[in-house]
Formats: sequence, structure tokens, C-alpha cells
Amino acid sequence: MIGCSSDNDGGESAVDDDYTEIPEEVSNNLLNLQIPSNFPAPTYDISQNPPTEKGFELGKKLFYDGKLSSTGVISCGFCHIQEFSFTHHTHITSHGVNGRIGTRNAQPLQNLAFAQDFNWDGAASFLDAQPIIPITAEDEMNESISNVLRKLQEDENYPILFAQAFGTEGVTSERMFKALSQFMIMMVAGNSKFDKWQRGESVTFTTDEEAGRSIFEAKCSSCHAGTLQTDHSFRNNGLPIDPEFNDIGRERVTGSPEDNRKFKVPSLRNIDTTFPYMHDGRFRTLRDVLDFYTNGMVNSPTLDAQFRNADGTIGLEISNTEKEQLIAFLKTLTDNDFLLDQRFSEF
Ligand code: HEC
Ligand code: HEC
Repeated sequence: MIGCSSDNDGGESAVDDDYTEIPEEVSNNLLNLQIPSNFPAPTYDISQNPPTEKGFELGKKLFYDGKLSSTGVISCGFCHIQEFSFTHHTHITSHGVNGRIGTRNAQPLQNLAFAQDFNWDGAASFLDAQPIIPITAEDEMNESISNVLRKLQEDENYPILFAQAFGTEGVTSERMFKALSQFMIMMVAGNSKFDKWQRGESVTFTTDEEAGRSIFEAKCSSCHAGTLQTDHSFRNNGLPIDPEFNDIGRERVTGSPEDNRKFKVPSLRNIDTTFPYMHDGRFRTLRDVLDFYTNGMVNSPTLDAQFRNADGTIGLEISNTEKEQLIAFLKTLTDNDFLLDQRFSEF
């Protein structure tokens, strides 16, 4: 279904084929994916699906369109709200069609071109394949891909927009997913105070921010590592199991008991805006998260070794003052340019 068709030539063939409905004057320029100088190379193979003006616009329209759900009202953007770094603000776990409640907290959508696995458990390893999960999940959009395609084919605008984006006629699932990816890979959050500091631009951390940064380096950055603040691994950070959901995390994907209760190490970029926290949204504030790291952890066979102390106790040691300093640092990770970037907003 994905990646097995060859009609992905990004617009260049519009002129020399028979599809005369496409006006030749519709230009479709390549977009420039600007990679901040402090970022690693993208993991997404841009050459396979280079974002273009029309592909991006189509992806954006699809992202904000309830047609992708069975009830016609739940769009991707319903759960992924830009000003909260595309999370479902205030929703502990997200709500889908008919108010059905899922089991996980909506993840931020940012820097997806640099990610390695998607969803809290890494259920998708290719961005183009990820949207199949929300579209077909019963408690999210509860729709079949074939129904979505039928609705798009019957629409008066979509067939034209698909043709403009991909150069020939055809509303296909591959193109739908490619357009969604074109929209999503352009979402680069890389202009926070922290980024500017990393790039040596003229910003200075306050005393508290700087102290928080050192504590972060020492106690958090082994997992929340590097510029993207994730080492892309799956780990158990000691959350008590929630009996209601009994979420086994990565084990759901690999089937291996060694992966029991392991979840993707999330980036902490824009973390001040993405509350509530953790895969099930159990913590309301950053202070709650830090209190958990010092006092709330539970032991289990897969608990990450980094949380086991020499004296047999578990958890991190962080004083109250240090917690305040850590929070001051975490707030330097907010990129307001990204949160307010008109290119991504619905209206
Ligand atoms: C009902 C709410 C809801 C809707 C609608 C929804 N999502 Fe999500 N999204 C989530 C949740 C919850 C997760 C985490 C899922 C998990 O870990 O199982 C998620 C995860 C993701 C991720 C993974 C991010 C990462 O860093 O790993 C991507 C990408 C994504 N969604 C894109 C989309 C797209 C595209 C659509 C529309 C086709 C969509 N979502 C519709 C709630 C939603
Ligand atoms: C051993 C690896 C590891 C270390 C060390 C670690 N974390 Fe985490 N962190 C994780 C994992 C894994 C998750 C996701 C857990 C989940 O949701 O089930 C997480 C989640 C979080 C979240 C919630 C993110 C969100 O999007 O909901 C915050 C905030 C956080 N960590 C902050 C910190 C801070 C601050 C430190 C240092 C004091 C730290 N972490 C140390 C692995 C780690």
C-alpha cells in the first residue's frame, strides 16, 4: 500500500502527459526544509517525498479535515492543536469520535523529520504509515482508508488538489499519506532560547536557567539527549502501572517481556505547553513530574538501570531549589515562533 507505487514524481510530469485538466500555469515549487544548524540530519528520506507548495497545502487541508473520520468531525488537528505544540490541550488521554476516550496522551507533532519511531510505543517506524493508526483506531477517527479515499474522490476540490500536488490525476492512499508527511515534516521547532544558546547566538541564560541546565545535563540528558532531547530509545522510567489501562508500552509492538512498560523517551521541546504529561497524561505540572522522579517511582524488572541507586533505593535525588531551576531551564525550550507559525495554523 505504501511505498509500492511509482507515481511519485512530485509534479514534474504535469506538462508532458495527457491530463489536460491541470492548468499549466499552476506552479508547484519545492519548499525549502530549513534545518537549524544545531540539528542532526533528518531521518526522513526527503528525496522520496520532497515537500512542495501544493503538496504541503494538500497535507494541511487533510490534516484539518474531519472527512478523515467516520463522523466527519474529528480531524487530526482536533487532537493536535498548534499552540500546545500540536497536543490535545487539557485532555489527559485524547478524545476521538463520539467522545470516545483513548488510552494515551496525544504526542506533540514537531521535528518529525528527525524522529525514528512514532507513537509512544513505536508502533509506526515510517512517518507516512503513522496516520493509518489514528484514522482506523476505533477510539480516534474510526474510519477505513477506503472510505476516506471514496469521500475525497467524491469531493469537488480534492481531485484537483491531488493532481496539482502530484502532477497527475489520482486520489490514492499513498499520495494522501505523502501529503500529510509533507505538511508534518515542515514542522520544525528549532528557535527556542535553548537553540539560540546552542548556536552561540546572543542570548544569556539567567542564573536559574543556567543552574537548571547543569542539573539537566547531569540527571536527564542521558535519555533526553542532545539537541532533540531524546536518544530515540524506549525505556521504563518507573511510572506506577495504571490499572485502568494496564498499558504494556513497547511490549505491545515487540511482544518481548523485556520491553514491558517501556515508552519512547519523549523530546522535552515545548514541554511547558504540552501538559498533561507522560504517555497517559497523568501529571498536570512539571513540578508533579519532578516530584515523581524523586519520590514516586516504582520498582519493576524493566525499570531503567539509571534509576537504581547504589544503596538499593530508586529514583533521582533533586532538591526543591534544583527542581525550580530545572523548571526554569525547561521553559527555555519553548519555541514561540513555531507555536504561532501561520504556515501550520488552521485559519
Ligand atoms: C483522537 C485524537 C487523535 C487524532 C484524531 C489524531 N491523533 Fe495523532 N496522536 C494521538 C495520540 C493519543 C497519539 C499517541 C498514540 C500512541 O502512542 O499510541 C498520537 C500520535 C501521533 C503521531 C506520533 C508522534 C510521535 O512523535 O511519535 C503522529 C505523527 C500523529 N499522531 C499524527 C496524526 C495525524 C496525521 C492524524 C490525522 C490523520 C492524527 N494524528 C489524528 C491522538 C490523535
Ligand atoms: C532513564 C531515562 C530517563 C531519564 C534519566 C529521565 N527521563 Fe524523563 N522520561 C523518560 C521516559 C521513558 C519518559 C516517557 C515515560 C512515559 O510516558 O511512560 C519520560 C518522560 C518525561 C516527561 C514527560 C514528557 C511528556 O511529553 O509528557 C518529562 C517532563 C520528563 N521526562 C522530564 C525529565 C527530567 C527533567 C529528567 C531529569 C530530572 C528526566 N526526565 C530524566 C526517560 C527518562
